[in-house]
Amino acid sequence: MLILGIESSCDDTAAAVLKDDQKLLSSVISSQFDVHAKYGGIVPELASRSHVQAIWPVVEEALFTANVRLKDIDLVAATQGPGLVGSLLVGFTFAKAVALVNNIPCVGVDHLVGHLLAIKLKNESVKNEGLEKEQIELPEYPYTALVVSGGNTSIFTVSSCTDFSLQGRTRDDAAGEAFDKVAKMLGLGYPGGPIVSKKAESGDPRAIKFPRSWLDKGSLDFSFSGLKTSVLNYINRCNQKNDPLAVEDICASFEQAVVDVLVEKTITAAKKSGHKDIVIGGGVAANSKLRRQMKERCAEEGLRCALPAPVFCTDNAAMIGLAGYYQFMELGTTVTPDTDAFSRSPLN
Ligand code: KG4
Repeated sequence: MLILGIESSCDDTAAAVLKDDQKLLSSVISSQFDVHAKYGGIVPELASRSHVQAIWPVVEEALFTANVRLKDIDLVAATQGPGLVGSLLVGFTFAKAVALVNNIPCVGVDHLVGHLLAIKLKNESVKNEGLEKEQIELPEYPYTALVVSGGNTSIFTVSSCTDFSLQGRTRDDAAGEAFDKVAKMLGLGYPGGPIVSKKAESGDPRAIKFPRSWLDKGSLDFSFSGLKTSVLNYINRCNQKNDPLAVEDICASFEQAVVDVLVEKTITAAKKSGHKDIVIGGGVAANSKLRRQMKERCAEEGLRCALPAPVFCTDNAAMIGLAGYYQFMELGTTVTPDTDAFSRSPLN
């Protein structure tokens, strides 16, 4: 079965072609960094307009690279939510129209499920840019998965490719959002995560004692708004005293505070559930400190840790095509032309 995956939930327009869950034939991503950079964050109206311009060329490129035509496609799978509704509607409506015109079934995919299953894109036959560098072992069900991105920070139990249950989630900001806001406070640009992470490499993670929010004992929920405020207060204090800002140390200390909480809570969740495998996904899962520390702590705790290649952590359509394939094969749930997009995930 040939699957066309489409993703447009935020600021990336993406399309991919897969052969069942066995082979990724193409994966094309068009980012909108230039559109939003000067605003220091995503402007929803501009994001929707950019998706409208990009969607057809991106799909055409994915089909061309995979050497298939639209009439060869057996299933269209598009992100139905969560995300910015204006952005979602572009990809989802495009997918429904293409499916209708070509008489192909279409499935609406929860973006979070894409992140939860992205690890399965790892396959010897999958053309995966990151895989040669990083050996990944496939997790066994049930496993504990941390989804950590610009819009979500949640821990799930994944019991099968269609069975997910929430164990904990952020009560305020997502971790990626905190990275983006700290970058903005420091005037570092957008998107903040990769820039803060780069600066952090030459800073001291113990230089500034930023708070770790553990919440109630044993809680698997997260909170990052206090940390964000703490960074802002620190910057303001330095400015008032005319002290130079040690940007690298701020980035490293902030990153360490986020990573400590993400890693320890995910490990607690796995141990509580008796799972042997931990998986991470979402844009922040591309963070090298998080990847390193999660691996080290899992090894200490006798847990296995599976990390998708960074290119499959950030938004992409390959994971949507894969999740859509499983959904179609296991549940057979297809959408109709009047099925709507959703801004919040029913899983969260
Ligand atoms: O999954 P994603 O591409 O989009 C969604 O939010 O769904 O994640 C984007 C988020 C942004 O907040 C970005 O700053 C963050 O992931 N991010 C990172 C890194 N790469 C992307 N955060 C920390 N370190 C990184 N290397």
